Amino acid sequence: MTQDEMKKAAGWAALDYVKKGSIVGVGTGSTVNHFIDALETRKEEIQGAVSSSVASTKRLEEIGIPVLDANEVSSLDIYVDGADEINGEYDMIKGGGAALTREKIVAAIAKQFICIVDDTKQVDVLGQFPLPVEVIPMARSFIGRELVKLGGDPVYREGVVTDNGNIILDVHNMKITKPKELEEQINALPGVVTVGLFAHRGADVLLMGSREGVKKFEK
Ligand code: A5P
Repeated sequence: MTQDEMKKAAGWAALDYVKKGSIVGVGTGSTVNHFIDALETRKEEIQGAVSSSVASTKRLEEIGIPVLDANEVSSLDIYVDGADEINGEYDMIKGGGAALTREKIVAAIAKQFICIVDDTKQVDVLGQFPLPVEVIPMARSFIGRELVKLGGDPVYREGVVTDNGNIILDVHNMKITKPKELEEQINALPGVVTVGLFAHRGADVLLMGSREGVKKFEK
């Protein structure tokens, strides 16, 4: 079984959590693309989706799922998204696809975060995957210096502009033993839009594709 087949199995398993008549929060990435394919089979039953990126919006609209503005929606039952790493507490690193800020907003609106991954994303300690930080362009050097003080090695993601017009710094060599504290520290730096640590709003359900099938875990 390939990694993509495991992603696909996790993406399709998330369909069980979609309620009739609901608006679904939709994340970004290759695993979510499988979920969007699955959602197409139930598109007549849902009101629509709130999307976390221009890329997912395009994909949803192409298959005829209405995409609502997050401002029109007071609450979502579920938000379905992938992760770059997830630990045993269901804290995550996200933002490999640079969509972290909108992902965090849609996740915050949702009652339940359903994380869909293949089993290569599971770790004991977060940080082997470089931690993405979305930064206002004029703060790039300042934030870089601050991230070094926090023990990381920030690297500017060349050629990437986020959907919000900002840049991404990927912080290497962080061993993240206290995800909530680090999330607060980095978010407090002036010029940081969002850090890709999802600890204060972690996942509630983990659907993990593996060679043995999809493993389901709930908090
Ligand atoms: C997008 O910015 C990310 O948070 C994705 O959710 C994450 O990178 C997982 O992507 P894949 O599903 O493509 O592995």
